[in-house]
Amino acid sequence: MATEYLQSLEVLPIEKRDQNPPVTGSAVVFLDQKIGSPQHLASGWIYGIPDTPGQIPDEFYTEVGFRYGRGGGSQLPDTRGWYRSKADYEARFQSALSNYRTTRKYGGNFILLPSALWGADGGQSADAPYPGDNDDWSSWDDLITTWIRDAKAHDMLEGLVFDIWNEPDLHFFWNRPREQWLQLWSRTYRVLRREVPNVRISGPCFSEGPDINGEWWNEYLAFVKQDNSVPDEWSWHMEQGHGNMSTSMSTFRELLNRYSIPESGIININEYGIWAEQVPSAAVWFISQLERENAFGLRGNWTIAGSLHDYLAGLVSKPGAGTEKYSSTSTGYYPTAEYHVYKYYGSEMNGQRLKTSSNDKRDGEAYAVLGTDKVRILAGSRNATGNWAVDVRGGETVGYASGEEVDVRVLEFSAKDNHFDESEGPKELGIRKATWQDGSLRLEIHQENPLVAYAFEFAIKV
Ligand SMILES: *[C@@H]1O[C@H](CO)[C@@H](O)[C@H](O)[C@H]1NC(C)=O
Ligand SMILES: *[C@@H]1O[C@H](CO)[C@@H](O)[C@H](O)[C@H]1NC(C)=O
Ligand SMILES: *[C@@H]1O[C@H](CO)[C@@H](O)[C@H](O)[C@H]1NC(C)=O
Repeated sequence: MATEYLQSLEVLPIEKRDQNPPVTGSAVVFLDQKIGSPQHLASGWIYGIPDTPGQIPDEFYTEVGFRYGRGGGSQLPDTRGWYRSKADYEARFQSALSNYRTTRKYGGNFILLPSALWGADGGQSADAPYPGDNDDWSSWDDLITTWIRDAKAHDMLEGLVFDIWNEPDLHFFWNRPREQWLQLWSRTYRVLRREVPNVRISGPCFSEGPDINGEWWNEYLAFVKQDNSVPDEWSWHMEQGHGNMSTSMSTFRELLNRYSIPESGIININEYGIWAEQVPSAAVWFISQLERENAFGLRGNWTIAGSLHDYLAGLVSKPGAGTEKYSSTSTGYYPTAEYHVYKYYGSEMNGQRLKTSSNDKRDGEAYAVLGTDKVRILAGSRNATGNWAVDVRGGETVGYASGEEVDVRVLEFSAKDNHFDESEGPKELGIRKATWQDGSLRLEIHQENPLVAYAFEFAIKV
């Protein structure tokens, strides 16, 4: 198992990789359309936080603008959770409490996974009981009552989001009829609203985005409408390596409309990015997608082999990472390749967010801000090579006339073949001259490695 696991962590050298169709065309940045101040919507992650406070130094949280954590004590060695024993629950509760406190320390919100308190690990083990089996809800009701008491006693309610059940649409996590999950939803929702009204309720937490004909989505929405149990946070996942936010959001609105549910609350993609996608180009792709739709996102990878509560979901690494010498309590943390993209995003991209669009095929993306001094743009493909570009429009709004030349600073965020390798900051590719034409500036990208990302910066004149 361990060897297999370690092999799966390797990223193939470029010449051995299959290639996706080339990325072409242009993503566009609109200098004249501001969409609000940056809040680092994509700087969240599931688990990844050690249970020992302070094990990972502060700067790794603050530099990336950490916003959202999510956990519930899953995969703690020698525990199964509530369904097996009160002591197992206690251990998982303490783990979740510690992760909650770490998240709050940096001003983030924390999403609790009660399914993990109940007993889910990678998934729920096949012989595990489920809440409501044989129409007996007493054990689940007890768990909720106990958790509410513990959460109050430990001051765990502020900034807390309760994700009623993780991925009920996967047998792996919910091996029971859909109807039983809907009952779980309704019953839990009522108790939380009554006892802890400030806790935000999140769902449906499906493994896939809104699907116009999907039974899970349709039945869920019809149900919460008539049951009057609409969530405060709409959650779903982008862990399958396909899908995109534009299609998901338009389908979501169509579905809400179908069931006469007014759009409210926030969208939280509370798991995005599989292991293979924890590379600079994919980081930019997800950041751009989420920011454009004003959706929060949490980096998600249910790593196994005892390291779930470590590495900030692949942003940091340490000596022994990914080897037999791994220790969950050792320190000496350093940044991975992807970290530098999030650091640039969280620390340097200040000012106002700008409206952007992706290229036509949606595999070339950009996220951009207008600062007081400069325009800063991150660009990344969705795992493809090719010749593509970022077109910047509206040059006159920052003081450039047609025909004028501008110095563009170009940075490259390199990828590492092994995700666990230490990575230095972005590489300076130097200053490139570009010329404004009819208010537009073309920033060309010759992408030879599908995993790297770029940043472009140029001064504003007004
Ligand atoms: C966007 O995602 C949907 C599935 O959610 C897919 O059908 C569609 O092809 C995607 N579009 C692009 C351009 O990738
Ligand atoms: C997370 O990473 C591990 C290790 O490579 C892999 O086995 C697992 O499938 C990944 N899970 C997801 C959801 O990406
Ligand atoms: C990139 O795409 C190739 C070909 O489809 C695939 O084998 C590989 O796993 C992908 N890698 C990432 C980072 O998504």
